[in-house]
Amino acid sequence: MLVALMTSQLSIAQKTTTVELKPSEEAPTISKHIYGHFAEHLGRCIYGGFYVGEDSDIPNTNGVRNDIIVALKDLKIPNLRWPGGCFADTYHWKDGIGPKEDRPTIVNRWWGGVTEDNSFGTHDFLNLCEVLETEPYLAGNVGSGTVQELIDWVQYTNHDGKSPMSDLRKKNGREKPWNVKYWGIGNEAWGCGGNMTPEYYSDEYRKYATFLSGWSNESGIFRIASGASSSDYKWTEVLMKNIKHNLLEGMALHHYSVIDWNNKSSSTGFEEEHYFKTMTEALKMEELIEKHTAIMDKYDPENKIALVVDEWGGWYDTDKGPNGTPLFQQNTMRDAMIAGVTLNIFNNRADRVKMANLAQTVNVLQAVILTDAETNKMLLTPTYHVMKMYNVHQDATLIPVEFESPKYEFNGESLPAVSISASKKEGKTHISLTNIDAEKENTIELDVTNLGIKNASGLILKSDKLQDHNTFDNPEKITPSEFKDFKLKKGKLSLTLPPLSVVVLEAK
Ligand code: AHR
Repeated sequence: MLVALMTSQLSIAQKTTTVELKPSEEAPTISKHIYGHFAEHLGRCIYGGFYVGEDSDIPNTNGVRNDIIVALKDLKIPNLRWPGGCFADTYHWKDGIGPKEDRPTIVNRWWGGVTEDNSFGTHDFLNLCEVLETEPYLAGNVGSGTVQELIDWVQYTNHDGKSPMSDLRKKNGREKPWNVKYWGIGNEAWGCGGNMTPEYYSDEYRKYATFLSGWSNESGIFRIASGASSSDYKWTEVLMKNIKHNLLEGMALHHYSVIDWNNKSSSTGFEEEHYFKTMTEALKMEELIEKHTAIMDKYDPENKIALVVDEWGGWYDTDKGPNGTPLFQQNTMRDAMIAGVTLNIFNNRADRVKMANLAQTVNVLQAVILTDAETNKMLLTPTYHVMKMYNVHQDATLIPVEFESPKYEFNGESLPAVSISASKKEGKTHISLTNIDAEKENTIELDVTNLGIKNASGLILKSDKLQDHNTFDNPEKITPSEFKDFKLKKGKLSLTLPPLSVVVLEAK
């Protein structure tokens, strides 16, 4: 009996994972730009998503849905990337300015060949960013554009004095420049951006970057090179070697959590096997950042160039049915788990990752907002809630975390079940924890001795089933609720994370 009791106590003790939070003078600030978003002319992201037009019955501001504006302001989105993606290298910005009725059309060749009327253009996007109090990130056209076209765009958006482009801007109703800081020089230059080699793109980049910002970049423009796809380390190596570092502020990286490009699985009708594979891909982000950073460290030991993960998220088969426009997918607890672990990885690598953009904001891929094409209803996805819970880390100082995660085991394979990141800002400590195990809870003991914590509160996002999601008829099935299941005693914060859960604690 005694032996049995001791054994059971032992097994309980073994299940508790001890986590050390180690504040450090050298710890980086978590850039708020890690919490960025991405809106491409693709499916119903812009047209029929954000933008319904000034004459729509849906309440709107300059044609953009008010409910979307409110939701994104609440989310505190720090930046928004536009107009693509692949679309960016087909986009000619001058077609999207001036009277809407005079604008030429554009065929969206990458995404369904639909004809767009260019009614959402530069003014519409940049004015929206002002309303959202977010920084615009414009992706320039290198694939089918010219250096002159991109310089003109910069002058149009940023030049305060007299110039042909600022005159044109004023003629189109905007007196003051918007001062756009973030500029992408092409997108996926290795693929839809022109199928270039890294050597060729490096030279193109150098030319564009030179004219974009002048000799000494006195304008403070932040130039982002089209970066590698997932583990294409050669791409990063060649660009870091061939591009002069005074021409480069950010190096992009794209990585999607996709299990098989030819059979991506349904966004809702999937099994645990698919979930496990998706999470394997999501967690790969850590290794990718590690390895791309090691290459960047070699060429940029002073860590001046940012790693910009400007496309990330889950990618499944497009949903069938009325919402089945290109890349429309539902968003389940699987997506909440991807968001939780990925943001923890970004936070923990805030030394090099200075910006990231979830793909995409509305109705496309791992969207934070979905709108119904027929009823015009809107909903916030589980990913939205995770992004909002985590926004407390924006511009906070990272608290490095050390621990060995319990395992999530499935079919003889295993992944780390728990992921954690922590930060401190204005006297408050925030700790975000994700348990991706589909079946098992995990008990955690956080050693917060060095943080002088006296009380804590928390929020939790959880649901019983992996496939659970919000629908237009039940939009609040998955929303955060208060989390009270923790104890604070003698510098130790103990809590139990239910399966499939995301918890954010605030302690002071
Ligand atoms: O986000 C969808 C597409 O994925 C983007 O247009 C492209 O950059 C990437 O391949």
